[in-house]
Order: sequence, then structure tokens, then C-alpha cells
Amino acid sequence: MPKLGVNIDHVATLRQARGEQEPDPVAAAAVCEAAGADGITVHLREDRRHIQDADVRTLRRTVSTRLNLEMAATPAIVAIALDIKPDMATLVPERREELTTEGGLDAVSPSQYAAVSGAVDALRAAGIPASLFIEPDAGQLDAAARMGAAFVEFHTGAYARLYGTPAGDAEFARIVAATKQAQALGIRVNMGHGLNLANVRPIAEIAGVVELNIGHAIISRAVFVGLARAVEEMKAAVTL
Ligand code: PXP
Repeated sequence: MPKLGVNIDHVATLRQARGEQEPDPVAAAAVCEAAGADGITVHLREDRRHIQDADVRTLRRTVSTRLNLEMAATPAIVAIALDIKPDMATLVPERREELTTEGGLDAVSPSQYAAVSGAVDALRAAGIPASLFIEPDAGQLDAAARMGAAFVEFHTGAYARLYGTPAGDAEFARIVAATKQAQALGIRVNMGHGLNLANVRPIAEIAGVVELNIGHAIISRAVFVGLARAVEEMKAAVTL
């Protein structure tokens, strides 16, 4: 049964919209954990549009499950990760003009391979398992294996967007095939992006998936039913 990692970035998005103290993502993390979250995920973006450095430092002390830090493979952010020591670091591509993380990392191209593998090495040396947020693609997986990444997280955005269509079924098949390939390479598999109560179940049922990282759908649902119930509902949806 996959674990549920709750991404609380959008609690911080709401706080930053007003530039005040509320809502507090640290308090939100505690509510998520009490409601059954197996881990807390935050993305310390280079533009600091939502989660702030101080949030990550406080979460490192307060999170009692597992703290997964999503981050760009840049020297400045890697230095912060080495200092804070999350339980896992998920390396993601970052473009400042994007609304959210729109695609997976390009671990294959020689220019990016160097930066990403350097970050994986530095994290590993500090005892922090690294995960690469990639498309469910054989070439990307080969690159992840060459870097010695402990985990990959498959970008489920296309699956989520196309859910319920033949193209969505094809994307699901691609994710299943890539999961088997990763497992054969000894890489553990997480999934995330765009997952919601309607589309999460088939992903949760893929054999051997370790963790699903879900943010926007849970925080959006929390507006109507409260955060604890939104987490409980998602936990029930991924419980096999
Ligand atoms: N996993 C990764 C690596 C992400 O970048 C994101 C989005 O920040 C998520 C999971 C969560 O996606 P969503 O907010 O669409 O659930």
C-alpha cells in the first residue's frame, strides 16, 4: 500500500498572498500528520513563492513522520538541503515562469546530467536519499540508475490531465511499464502531480509504489471540508 505524502506548499501560497502569518504551513503539517499523512512534502522554490527557508527549518524539528524536500539541483539549494537534512530530497526541474512543476527533470541531456548527478552525490554523501522527478521514460530511468538515485518520482501530470480518455489509458500503461523497469533496476518508485480523489486509485494500485505526493487537490478540498477531512479522504482513497 503506498504511503501518502501531503504537499503543503499551497498553505504557504495563501499566506504569502497576504504577506502575514496565516495560514501557517507548520501548523498545517501537524494537522496532516494527525489525520494520517505518512509524510510532509514541501518545495523550497528558488523564487520562494510559497514555502520559505524558515518554514523548512521549523518543519525539520516538528515533522514526526518524514520530511521530503523538493528542490532544484542548484548549488545554493543543495547547500540548504545539506544543512537542514530532510529525510529525502526530490530533485525537480524549475522554471520561474511556470505555475507549477510542468514536466520531469531532463536527467539525460549532458548539461543537466552533470548538475543532477552532482546533487545526487552530495545528498548521498550526507545520508539523504535522492529522488528524481522524471517522466515515466526508459531513457530518464537509465540516467537515474547511472547516477545511483535511490528513488524516482514519476510525473503523473499527463495521466491526471488525460484521465478517462484513451490517451489517459496509454499514459497509465507507460507509467506501469516504467515502474516495472525502475523496480528491475533496483530503484524505488514514488508518484505525484495532479492526483486527486477521482484519478488516484489506479495509481495507488500499481504494485510496489512506495509513496504518492499529493498537494493541490488536498488543499483545494480542504477549503470545503477542512484539512483533516481532506487528508482522511485521500488516505482512504489510496488505502488498498
Ligand atoms: N510531486 C512533485 C515532485 C511536485 O513538484 C508536485 C507539485 O509541487 C507534487 C508532487 C504535487 O502535485 P499536486 O500539487 O498537483 O498534487
